[in-house]
Amino acid sequence: MADLHDRWVAERRNEHYYKLAKKLNYRSRASFKLIQIDERFGIFKPGDAVVDLGACPGGWCQVAQERTWPNGKVIGVDLRYIKPIEGVETFMGDITHDSTMIELMERFGGKADVVLSDMAPNIAGHYSMDHARSINLCMYAVDVCDRILKKEGKLVMKVFMGDMFDSLMDELKKRFQSVKVHSPDASRDTSSEVYVICQGYYGKSNITLKKPEAEEKKPEFTVKGGFI
Ligand SMILES: C[S@@+](CC[C@H](N)C(=O)[O-])C[C@H]1O[C@@H](n2cnc3c(N)ncnc32)[C@H](O)[C@@H]1O
Repeated sequence: MADLHDRWVAERRNEHYYKLAKKLNYRSRASFKLIQIDERFGIFKPGDAVVDLGACPGGWCQVAQERTWPNGKVIGVDLRYIKPIEGVETFMGDITHDSTMIELMERFGGKADVVLSDMAPNIAGHYSMDHARSINLCMYAVDVCDRILKKEGKLVMKVFMGDMFDSLMDELKKRFQSVKVHSPDASRDTSSEVYVICQGYYGKSNITLKKPEAEEKKPEFTVKGGFI
């Protein structure tokens, strides 16, 4: 009974943010997740350079563009085509491919103040598999930070909860002064997603990230705590 009620509440909440997104010309109701995160944690400043991973259809890019205006720089990448957004550069690519990582660094051409990742795997409906795939994408977002995030920079990243969550948190804590887990009102649906808000990047950790060969392969952790 509680489940049915929770689902009903989640559907009403989603419908509310969906209608609000339409009304305010945001491309996704996910925009409100980032707005709520920014209002609580103060992520953006005017003039910031922002990288948005998993950016389609572009709701987070719109929010980042508005909140870094007038001199901000925003670039978004996704597996899927993103319809052009004024003042934002977008391109198609898979961030797990080296060619995309290189293209991102070339197009961006500098260091980022903020890295965003709302990347989500295709949901298989299998809790631990979806979690492992989400952790894999998070590892790539951390890799992007190690390549282009400025010292003191910020990372906002979506994660699906599961048993590797604590190991991911350990990795983030080695790189950032502050790591907080947050679930904005706009994201409190029936899914297991949470957002990690990382601030005060120390610079590249001495841990080398080595990605799993196949997406399905579970990331493992070394004794030192690094991804191998
Ligand atoms: C929840 S959506 C992002 C919504 C977006 N933040 C917005 O506000 O419009 C997640 C996106 O992650 C993308 N994605 C998943 N895996 C990816 C990968 N390996 N490289 C790039 N994008 C990826 C998906 O294609 C999907 O569009």
